[in-house]
Amino acid sequence: LIAGDQVIGAALVLYFTPHKFTAEEISLGESAASQVSVALAKLRLLDDVRKRAHEFEMLHQVAADVGIEQDLRTTLERIVDRVMEILNIEHAGVYLYDPETQELELRIVRGMNIDIGTRLKIGEGVAGKVAQTRSPLVVRNYQTWKGRSAKYEGVPFTSVLEVPMVYRGEMIGVLAVNEVMPTIRRFSDEDVRLLSLFASQAAGAIHSTRLFEQTRRRLRELEALTAVSTAMRSAPTKADIPPVVLREIRKLVDATSVALITLDKETDEGVVLDIQGEWQEKKGLRFSLEHPALEEMFEQVTPHQLERASEIIKQIIGEDIDEPLDVIAIPLVAQDENLGVINVMRRRKEGKEATFSDIEIRLLNATADIAANALRRAELHEQTREHLRRLSALHEIDMAVNASFDLHLIFDILLDRLTMQLDVDAADILLFDSHVKRLTYEMGSGFISPTVPKMDIRMDEGIAGKAVMERRIVIVNDLSFARDYLKLRGLDEEGFVTYCALPLISKGEIKGILELFYRKRCKMDLSRQNFFQTLATQTAIAIDNTRLFNEVHRSNLELTRAYDATIQGWSAALELRDMETEGHSRRVTEATLRLATEMNVPDWELPHIRRGALLHDIGKMAIPDSILHKPGKLTKEEWEIMHQHPIFAYQLLSKIDYLKPALDIPYYHHEKWDGTGYPFGLKGTQIPLAARIFAVIDVWDALLSDRPYRKAWKEEKVIAYIKDQAGKHFDPDVVRVFLNLLKAGKI
Ligand code: C2E
Ligand code: SIN
Ligand code: SIN
Ligand code: FE
Ligand code: FE
Repeated sequence: LIAGDQVIGAALVLYFTPHKFTAEEISLGESAASQVSVALAKLRLLDDVRKRAHEFEMLHQVAADVGIEQDLRTTLERIVDRVMEILNIEHAGVYLYDPETQELELRIVRGMNIDIGTRLKIGEGVAGKVAQTRSPLVVRNYQTWKGRSAKYEGVPFTSVLEVPMVYRGEMIGVLAVNEVMPTIRRFSDEDVRLLSLFASQAAGAIHSTRLFEQTRRRLRELEALTAVSTAMRSAPTKADIPPVVLREIRKLVDATSVALITLDKETDEGVVLDIQGEWQEKKGLRFSLEHPALEEMFEQVTPHQLERASEIIKQIIGEDIDEPLDVIAIPLVAQDENLGVINVMRRRKEGKEATFSDIEIRLLNATADIAANALRRAELHEQTREHLRRLSALHEIDMAVNASFDLHLIFDILLDRLTMQLDVDAADILLFDSHVKRLTYEMGSGFISPTVPKMDIRMDEGIAGKAVMERRIVIVNDLSFARDYLKLRGLDEEGFVTYCALPLISKGEIKGILELFYRKRCKMDLSRQNFFQTLATQTAIAIDNTRLFNEVHRSNLELTRAYDATIQGWSAALELRDMETEGHSRRVTEATLRLATEMNVPDWELPHIRRGALLHDIGKMAIPDSILHKPGKLTKEEWEIMHQHPIFAYQLLSKIDYLKPALDIPYYHHEKWDGTGYPFGLKGTQIPLAARIFAVIDVWDALLSDRPYRKAWKEEKVIAYIKDQAGKHFDPDVVRVFLNLLKAGKI
């Protein structure tokens, strides 16, 4: 945890199991640490200020007791006034010690025409000596005194008395009184004692005044920074941050104009991301970095005043600057990354000296720090969100690919996610027909005109053709260089700027092209390209799988049709041999399906029931003609063989996977409800429903037909027989439904 250049601690992330940290995690960690550091540093500063405020309160109490004012200038004026009063003298001054330069600076003087701001080194002149020795010094005649400073050449000093002002061991400055020609004064020990006494009080007053001013300044700074931080928190996205920062900066310092400038590394141009105040219409302006001073501006890592500022600003905004301009450039640095620079520009007032004050620079720098971190954080956040959005789009498309074999549905979801979630303005899919070598528009989304882009093009035409021929992603950053292609596709009125064509390749074969269109310039960075490649691959696989599935499905249908034709052939052959009336199989099959439907047998069982009904007596293929065609009653031995026909059916059909589910009827159609049937003597619902249904239909149709062993029965007799057999041969429920259907004329 680093605040400024000070290490203030460390944050640890620990795992109980081995963990490999990703670059993203580390970067998130750094961002979090920098936020914590800033927060801690702020707390410390607050603490510091609070402590000082308290200290000051006590000092101020003391100062107030001796009637000392709080403003440094007033304090110094009061001091010299008092000194002149105490020593009854016309000339007095105060030097303040500057520990940074180790010089004394003349801050106030009375009764004499010498320059305020004159600086003396330690040891130089009377004041320098006094500061050095921290003792009073009396000079009887300055004009002949050897230690006098060249800075006072020609000043008519005669007698001088100076005493140090020290507060708690800290050099504050020097109090000086003197006479000028032609008067000479002998300063007494009493004068020295009095002035020394007063000097110690004055030192305390100056110290507390300074402390007060410093505290007030710090509080002002803190207030300003808190305002910036708070404002920043209301800027949720990266784009919201620059306007807020610039607005706050304008509030902090009196600036003509404030601009946030970034570097576009791709085009090597500077970009005015935002500008407020004068020249605010230049927002978004791009400028070349040809001028060496401009490159320099981006390289610095600390705030710096621009030399030849007017010239540099002219390079940026492309306008002549008539008045002198002061510009301070504050770099936006977050985690060692230079994000850009904030230029604070101020017209120089007539006759006024240049420059921003130290306080202003400190404030600007602190603001820039906050802004840079906020930008970095927003960027990370946006990257993470973008990442999540991409993942979720990918996932949804994945789900669609896995859940559906409907290409249109998959394309629909793909195009929808691209245009609704992923900021692509329009997208379409062209499918490749390898026979005619053409790309044909299949589906699109996001186009304004409803008639475009329904086009088909040759595989070597335009940019899409290039992606097919070269089998790689083709990116066009600026479509104004590809007018012909837009015309060819009828897209020239859509306002597209950036374009990307991705070949859809699966198992080495081109399936088509995914085209992406942007209406504003879009940076196709590597991570975006990779993501779209993933999408394209997924889409190609979906096309492949769907086609494969449809082909298998189609050949499966063809196979089924072929099987069913075979089955019908068998059943017709059987009818011939059995000497049944023609169409018996077809009739019982249709009636069985109707009865089954009426009995709520699920749809998926019906094809099996159909096949089972058609093949119900397939087992009779194994019964010799002598038995099958016997005109009279069967002997016991013959019956034994005849009773085998369901078993023969099973032996025949169970070898064919396709017909296994159709076995219920051929195997069990001679079982009886009361358990007296064959081949197993099953009872009631032990008998599969399909077989119970079929049994009624089979007997009904058999009795209405001529047989080698008897003539056809009359219908009333058959109905009576069926009714009679309910609960004996047949399932009574099935008989009831059958009779209803019969009455309704549906059998
Ligand atoms: P099928 O001719 O297709 O008859 C199917 C079923 O209809 C018979 O099964 C039986 O339940 C019923 N059914 C058919 N004709 C009559 C009938 O005249 N009276 C009665 N009450 N029910 C009848 P079942 O009895 O298990 O016979 C199976 C198959 O055995 C018959 O199929 C037929 O091919 C053969 N079969 C049955 N009885 C004789 C017979 O007396 N002579 C010869 N040659 N074959 C017979
Ligand atoms: C000096 O300190 O050398 C000059 C004397 C004065 O300013 O009074
Ligand atoms: C089908 O729809 O699968 C063909 C009908 C049948 O299998 O009988
Ligand atoms: Fe049978
Ligand atoms: Fe039959």
